[in-house]
Parts: sequence; structure tokens; C-alpha cells
Amino acid sequence: MEKPELYRDLARQLAALLAGETDFIANAANTAALIYHGLPDLNWAGFYFRNGTELVLGPFQGKPACVRIPIGKGVCGTSAARGATVLVPDVHDFPGHIACDPESRSELVLPLIDAGAVLGVLDLDSPLLARFDELDRDGCEELVALLLVHHRKYPRGGLPRNVDDRT
Ligand code: SME
Repeated sequence: MEKPELYRDLARQLAALLAGETDFIANAANTAALIYHGLPDLNWAGFYFRNGTELVLGPFQGKPACVRIPIGKGVCGTSAARGATVLVPDVHDFPGHIACDPESRSELVLPLIDAGAVLGVLDLDSPLLARFDELDRDGCEELVALLLVHHRKYPRGGLPRNVDDRT
């Protein structure tokens, strides 16, 4: 399947998974599982949510990972600090990359932005060099948008800004 078709298919599946469910953590967990199992050649897919000046590990698929990442550090912290997607074809060329799994060679990190605030990031890792391209970036940004738009429908949609209230 070509990438645009694959991402259209994943978007349809995600919409079906989200339909009628208000719990953000449950929906983020299913989003991570859908992406991890739906995209080839990934070794990790999941969320980090902002808590103050840190990102804290959220729902994911893959090996256990670093729990806390300071905003501005690593690929995830850089994406959160910039409020922009970061595509890294070779993690060895990214200064400050945080190697949770030494097998990861390329990475795509997308910010979760709601009402101008960065709530966290979606992180995808691959053991292949240059696994991700602009089609992956666009397709994954669409999936993140689906998740966030779905939760804006609910007044207290369990959005992860609530992680600030957990401590
Ligand atoms: N490599 C990431 C850390 C998170 S793990 O890959 C799951 C980074 O540099 O931010």
C-alpha cells in the first residue's frame, strides 16, 4: 500500500476507535497501538505529556522507555520546545538525542498543540535509517489532529494538561 493510502486507512480506523469515547488516556493508548501495528518498521510509538518543564512518559507500544525528558532536550524535548514536528533521518546526527533504545536509528516527533499550548508529543522510532519522510510527517500530523479535534468536543475531555493536576 502506498503511504497516502495507508495513512487514509489509518485515519479511518482511528476515527472508528475514537468514536464515542471521551477518555483521553484510553484514546491515546489506542492511537499508539494503531500506529505501532499499522506502520511498518517501527520499534516504538507513543506519547509524552508535558508536566511543567518536563515531558513524562504516556501510553506507548514498544520497549520500556525513558520516563522524564526535560523540555528542550532530545528530539522529543526539542519538538515540545519548538511546538513543531522534528524529523530525524539519523539519530546519530542529532546532538542531544536521548537513546532509550540503541537500536533506534531514525525518529519522527510531533507536538500535541491545543489552544496554542504544547500538551506533549507523539514519538515514533524506527531501527531503519531515514525511515520517515514528509508523507509520514503529514500522515501522522493528520492522526494527531484527529485525536485532538475529537477531544475538543468534550468540555473536560481528559486532555493531558491535566497531568499538571496529578502531582
Ligand atoms: N529518542 C527520544 C527519547 C524518547 S525514546 O526514543 C522513546 C529523544 O531523543 O527525545
